[in-house]
Parts: sequence; C-alpha cells; structure tokens
Amino acid sequence: MAGGGEKVDYVFKVVLIGDSAVGKSQILARFARNEFSLDSKATIGVEFQTRTLVIDHKSVKAQIWDTAGQERQIGALFVRFHCAVHGFAGQDFLVDHRLKLVGFETYSGDATLCYPGAQASGYRAVTSAYYRGALGALLVYDITKRQSFDHIPRWLEELRGHADKNIVIMLVGNKSDLEEERAVSTEDAKEFAEKENLFFLETSALQATNVENAFQTVLTEIF
Ligand code: GTP
Ligand code: MG
Repeated sequence: MAGGGEKVDYVFKVVLIGDSAVGKSQILARFARNEFSLDSKATIGVEFQTRTLVIDHKSVKAQIWDTAGQERQIGALFVRFHCAVHGFAGQDFLVDHRLKLVGFETYSGDATLCYPGAQASGYRAVTSAYYRGALGALLVYDITKRQSFDHIPRWLEELRGHADKNIVIMLVGNKSDLEEERAVSTEDAKEFAEKENLFFLETSALQATNVENAFQTVLTEIF
C-alpha cells in the first residue's frame, strides 16, 4: 500500500451497491484495511475508503464509495459552504445526518466548524452524486438471501440510469463461506451476469475469498 505523499497516477472511483446486510461494508473493510467484523452496523449516509495499488507499473488510487442498502433514501445532504477560510467557498460538500463531512478526503476537519457561515443548499437526492464519476461498480447480493439476488435487476437499472455508460460492473455473490445456507446457485448468477454483460465472482469478506480479485478485476478493466 502506498503511503501519503507518494505519487498517484490515477484515481478511480468505484461504488458499492446492493441490498442492506449483503456485506458491502465488510467487503470494503476487507479490501481497504484487511479487516472484518461480524457485528457490522448498517451504514448511514455515504462513506468511502481508499487504497492505492500498482497496476501495470502505475500507481492507482481506488476510491471506494459505500452507502446504505436500506431504502433508496440516503441520509445525507449537501451543504454549500460560504466559508472562505478553507478555500472551499461555493463548493458542494457531502455531509451526513449530523453534518459531519463524509464526502471529500481533501478536507478532513469537522464541517460543523464553519457551519454558522454555511447554508444548506437543501436535501437533494444524493443518488446522482453517489454515482457521478464512478468508473466501476460492485453489485452485491448475499448468496444465502434469494431476495437480495432478485433485487439485482433494480440495482442495475438504477446504476445504468445514473452512471457513465462505460462503467465496469462486477456482480458479486457474497458470503460464499455459508455454503450450507446457499439460496442462489452459482449457475443462475453466472447466467444472469452473462446476459447482462457483467463480470461475476462469489466472495467471502469473512474468509477473504475473492475480495481482492473482485476489485483487481474491476480496476484493471477500468485501467
Ligand atoms: P448496509 O450498510 O445496511 O447496506 O449493509 P452492508 O451491505 O454494508 O452489510 P455489512 O457489511 O454491514 O454486513 C452485514 C452482516 O453480514 C454483518 O453481520 C457482517 O458481519 C456479515 N457479513 C458480511 N460479509 C460476510 C461474509 O462474507 N460471510 C459471512 N458469514 N458474513 C458476512
Ligand atoms: Mg454497510
């Protein structure tokens, strides 16, 4: 992993989508920090983590965005700062429900610091902001939850409606460690992926199976 200050040749934004509890945040934790938690909390708002890797002798910073799979109501809003102090006046920042800044890594301070001078530009569907600029997507379902797979066409529709048309999409069947509880066959998923022109892998964030492979495939394909 490249440390701070190292040269980055490319920054690729990749989004995670799929129903709640399929394991999006744990897939990200495994990829970004090689961590896993069994009592992972449902995500609120939007979060992202980065990891820099080398592809073809170039340093590629993967910026992975994660959000709540629950409703399509993402608990975040945009605030337009009229706070020249930080040199960001007039820019939109993505903040969470407590007005804590979540959307931009260039600014790591607490947004509430300059909130008195800030003016909410209003609740806005963050859906389009979430997908904006994304070059890759992991479309995740849980192999033990049929419903999470049945919802994939809806997620795909939303993705195709908002993201760049050349976005690289990987269908991910997570929790492959729970083979005895499997409710979606590998064949069904593979067939769907082929029909829709998606990459496909089954992963286990718990056992660290194929997580690296899933991101690597998407990032290499973008590259
Ligand atoms: P939302 O944030 O609500 O959209 O959910 P999410 O998709 O981010 O799910 P999260 O990563 O929080 O995981 C949900 C639950 O599944 C947690 O209890 C995780 O520990 C568990 N989990 C995630 N990945 C795996 C896996 O590969 N295997 C098993 N057995 N459990 C997993
Ligand atoms: Mg989550």
